[in-house]
Amino acid sequence: MKILAIDTSCDETSVAIVEDTKVLSNVISSQVRYHKKYGGVVPMLAGRLHEERIENVVELSLKRAALSRSDLDAIAVTYGPGLAPALQVGIAKAKALASALQKPLYGVNHMAGHIAACFAQIGAKDVPSMQFPFLAVLISGGHTELVVVESFGEFQIIGQTLDDALGEAYDKVAKMLGLGYPGGKLVAELADEGEVVYDLPIAMRQSGDLNLSYSGLKNAVRLLIEEVKGKHTDGFLTRQEIVDICASFQEVAQQSLLLKIERALSARPELKQLVVGGGVAANLVLRRKLRTVGDAHDLTVVFPANTKLCTDNAAMIGAAAYFGIQAGQMPVTTEQLDRVPYLSLEDTSFTKK
Ligand code: KG4
Ligand code: ZN
Repeated sequence: MKILAIDTSCDETSVAIVEDTKVLSNVISSQVRYHKKYGGVVPMLAGRLHEERIENVVELSLKRAALSRSDLDAIAVTYGPGLAPALQVGIAKAKALASALQKPLYGVNHMAGHIAACFAQIGAKDVPSMQFPFLAVLISGGHTELVVVESFGEFQIIGQTLDDALGEAYDKVAKMLGLGYPGGKLVAELADEGEVVYDLPIAMRQSGDLNLSYSGLKNAVRLLIEEVKGKHTDGFLTRQEIVDICASFQEVAQQSLLLKIERALSARPELKQLVVGGGVAANLVLRRKLRTVGDAHDLTVVFPANTKLCTDNAAMIGAAAYFGIQAGQMPVTTEQLDRVPYLSLEDTSFTKK
């Protein structure tokens, strides 16, 4: 089944074509350089830029897959969660394509896409199949969620951040250190050069639940930066101090997540896989630690096959539509489909049989 999928939930205009779980094309047009000067994504600007680009990105996606519109079997689109003016553009385009081509239209939850990304196939490399029930750990710029997946479409959120997302915490630390936006990846790279020499707090360690919090850590890093800067007459951090702050932050940020994952896995021995998606799943240090956790619990750990499938992309939306259809998801009419900016994974409006 060939599905053309669209994701315009945030600041990437992405259109992909998948054949079942196989990625035939995955075009991502990033707007990052336009939002950079504002230090974050500006929703109306994102909407306008999606509008300008979407048609070309659709064309390029078809071209890279060497397909024409008539080869397509279905259209899928993210309808939430995401920025309303941004979601709007992808939805309008998907509706127009589905109507013009007389093909079924599927609404996809962006977070279900981040789960599906772990099982999408790129090139000839084999990917594992889903073993239910599994624990999905979703770590992105907007979300940090621990989700039990009973079947594709039956998602139960068992833990989540009460404030900032993990990727957002990385980005905010980058901003505080003057590393630019979005600086999560840069913080991770600098952390590799540093040592964990500063003591930072692990939030929610004692809470009996599986929730997380990153705003306390962010504030602790802010105070730490001020304190270390205060030791210099010129008020500037040395490179060694910067890399050590990154390493100390990363250690605690990851440890608090690992603690809750450990707790979830211990409480639920029936879980068969540990599936990790979202932008922060690109972090190699975290991947290593998660593999160790998986080994200790005798679980396979599944990550997206490449970095492009970790951060926002439309191939994951196509794969999620495919898995949803396999599980009985029905198409929607153009009247039924509307953006839902705060859509939860537990919402089954379009996925219930
Ligand atoms: O999944 P994603 O593209 O966006 C949302 O759907 O929110 O994730 C982007 C997030 C950003 O916060 C970015 O800083 C973070 O993922 N990120 C990383 C790494 N690469 C991207 N964080 C830590 N280490 C990385 N290597
Ligand atoms: Zn995302």
